[in-house]
Amino acid sequence: MTKKDLVFSGVQPTGNLHLGNYLGALKNFVSLQKKKECIYCVVDLHAITIFQKPEELRNNVLETVASFIATGLDPNKSVIFNQSSVSGHSELAWILNCVSKIGWLNRMTQFKDKAGTDKEKASVGLYIYPNLMAADILLYKATHVPVGADQKQHLELARDIAQKFNNDFKCKDFFPIPEPLIPKNISRVMSLRDGTKKMSKSEDSDYSRINLKDSADEISKKIKKAKSDSQVIPDNLKELEGKPEALNLLTIYSEISKISLEKIINEMAGKEYSHLKLRLSELLISEITPVGKEIVKLLEDKSHLTKILKKGKEKASIIAEENLKNIREKVGLI
Ligand code: TRP
Repeated sequence: MTKKDLVFSGVQPTGNLHLGNYLGALKNFVSLQKKKECIYCVVDLHAITIFQKPEELRNNVLETVASFIATGLDPNKSVIFNQSSVSGHSELAWILNCVSKIGWLNRMTQFKDKAGTDKEKASVGLYIYPNLMAADILLYKATHVPVGADQKQHLELARDIAQKFNNDFKCKDFFPIPEPLIPKNISRVMSLRDGTKKMSKSEDSDYSRINLKDSADEISKKIKKAKSDSQVIPDNLKELEGKPEALNLLTIYSEISKISLEKIINEMAGKEYSHLKLRLSELLISEITPVGKEIVKLLEDKSHLTKILKKGKEKASIIAEENLKNIREKVGLI
């Protein structure tokens, strides 16, 4: 990455962030913050594409900010704000609605998943959600976007939209074509109950996930109960094929311990999964519970969190306004 690089990412304001969010996004955000200019946005406008109770939405935005800070994001280094506080996101989204194509949106698999069987009943917002995501990124002319593997298709759409805008308005290189930064090893943390599904806050069983606010006791119970494999830990990765739950536990262990999967397998080959689980619980407890406690503490002072958002909004608005001025001019809006 070069000096003019700008990192942007958005996180949905779900209360109760879990290990998947932590390993797949938050930790990565913190390490990027050390090297780059970064903007991290809590995407409340994306959240309302599916109905949210207003009071819950407000709390979830604050809880997401608390999780950012508890994980190590520094509001003096990174820009941290909520999407709806900078109106440029909505304005650019409208312009990009007019650049993007229905055919492109019709290919988006996340819409198909989220809309379920009765697509006629999904909100229009849910359908054009990817255009708003493109607006988030392009409003800041971001060059790099850390996202989970599930957002790759949306990012490709953002690249197509940037390209088409630059072509349509004959302004080559106006929008940089944003690059995805997808974590290599751990693009997906899977459910502890079903290794073929992503760890998710919406899965019914709380045993399927480690929440950042879980107590040491809860973490160790959940790991103990997690699905693994009836055989012992194999001595090569190939044998883990078709054993997604076992692979998931090993991958989480690798990610937290920073020891490569190969090395772990070398060390643990022939042992029962209970051995791995014990070590994994210990590591998770020492890494996750302090974060959870900090989240709870930060949530006790909501006005502090609101102040962080306000400061972030001010910084984000400066970049957004400047870029929007040029965008309006390119499009021919007076
Ligand atoms: N759609 C993303 C998700 O659900 C969140 C998001 C919104 C985002 N705008 C973004 C991510 C811009 C990266 C860049 O995870």
